[in-house]
Amino acid sequence: MKKQVTALDKKYLWHPFTQMKEWVEKDPVIVTEGRGSFVKDISGRWYLDGISSLWVSVHGHRKKEIDTAIKDQIDKVSHSTLLGLSHPPSAILAEKLVHIVQGSGDKQKNSALKTQNSKLRRVFYSDDGSTAVEIALKIAFQYWQHIGIKSKRTFLSLTNAYHGDTIGAVSVGGIDLFHDLFSPLLFKAYKAPSPYCYRCELGKTYPACKLLCLDKIEDIMHKHHREIAGMIIEPLVQGAGGMIVSPPGYLKGVRRLCSKYNILMIADEVATGFGRTGRMFAFEHEKAFPDILCLAKGITGGYLPLAATIATEKIYSAFLGAYKDLKTFFHGHTYTGNQLACAAAIANLEVFKKERTLKKLQKKIEALSKGLSEMAGFPNVGDIRQKGFMVGIELVKNKKTKEPYLLEETIGWKVCGRAREKGLMLRPLGNVIVLMPPLSISYDELKTLIKITSESIREVIE
Ligand SMILES: Cc1ncc(COP(=O)(O)O)c(C=O)c1O
Repeated sequence: MKKQVTALDKKYLWHPFTQMKEWVEKDPVIVTEGRGSFVKDISGRWYLDGISSLWVSVHGHRKKEIDTAIKDQIDKVSHSTLLGLSHPPSAILAEKLVHIVQGSGDKQKNSALKTQNSKLRRVFYSDDGSTAVEIALKIAFQYWQHIGIKSKRTFLSLTNAYHGDTIGAVSVGGIDLFHDLFSPLLFKAYKAPSPYCYRCELGKTYPACKLLCLDKIEDIMHKHHREIAGMIIEPLVQGAGGMIVSPPGYLKGVRRLCSKYNILMIADEVATGFGRTGRMFAFEHEKAFPDILCLAKGITGGYLPLAATIATEKIYSAFLGAYKDLKTFFHGHTYTGNQLACAAAIANLEVFKKERTLKKLQKKIEALSKGLSEMAGFPNVGDIRQKGFMVGIELVKNKKTKEPYLLEETIGWKVCGRAREKGLMLRPLGNVIVLMPPLSISYDELKTLIKITSESIREVIE
């Protein structure tokens, strides 16, 4: 079986973000099973899943409640369209999503926050993070057309941003390695500096900088607000850009500036949503409620592709009218709101509640921080960034000068390769070692994650 799958893979598959010439020179790890925080390969070896199968697994693999919800749904119907029809899982999930984005589980009684907050109310489904972002951009664009501010036709985003791989998402992306080549295909978007304190583009140091990066955003907004429909941001953590954690107050500042300059704030919580940062959504940390919210990845607990773009009632209302007014949002995907995926997502949210996942997570976050702090002294660990269960360990050639490793040194891959030999599955972002374990990871497993990561860094670098 192993030989057969390997041969078929090498002959027919084209893997994402992969140089296939190199890929076919080695035999792949073929995953055949998962359980809790682990995945098993075709030879029967188990690996700790240190990146939650690309940042999606929330309660671990083979979670009974989610397995059962999908199986039960299969016994009813697996898919029917939302174009012209409805179905129970999509409607029930929409209500639950609106409920949680409005922070109803939150004990805080801040009424100002509630009114701002209660406006996020309309759920538009799609299939993955990129489509959630495309939809957000198109909704923002069309909104201004409908309300008569037709000059608002472009967007503002950040360097080091990653919002997906479709053309709209790439237009607002900011990772040169992935995005530069496509520039002739992209629409114009303004770019503000990333809040990357370790390598500040403005040459400043936090907190003495007084968040100069926010002033740079304001400069762009001040000059171009008549053209800018929306600002898209990954709240608190720029994930694929290298787990870049923004300094306190930054996100709130972005919210304030968007309101001041009449620009829609689009929060891309594809990576940060569903508990990753320690709260259900990252925007909650700074009470920076967006006008449009993009969700995907963890929405189904890591089971099935599903995404949601949630807009405020005010935005949604601008799309209402007679058909002949042409205010309809002419957008949709074949599997929009797939019944199985919505059933999985409902079960995912119910597990959060039943198991008090977020409450239990807080102590694990502390344990993870403690474990990470031991690596801070390593000679080639330049920066350790953590927000909740999102971690980036940036490796540098020279700690003093922050000189980075060259692309061709593939240092991240070497460390992750060593970790794999030791039974831990990781995937780096360039020179940054990423840790994104399932929220359900046990304390013992967390210890193993830290131990193997630490050993792998030391063994590869020394
Ligand atoms: C913040 C963010 N937005 C969008 C995406 C794209 O999601 P997908 O790969 O599901 O299209 C990602 C993927 O990593 C992401 O991290």
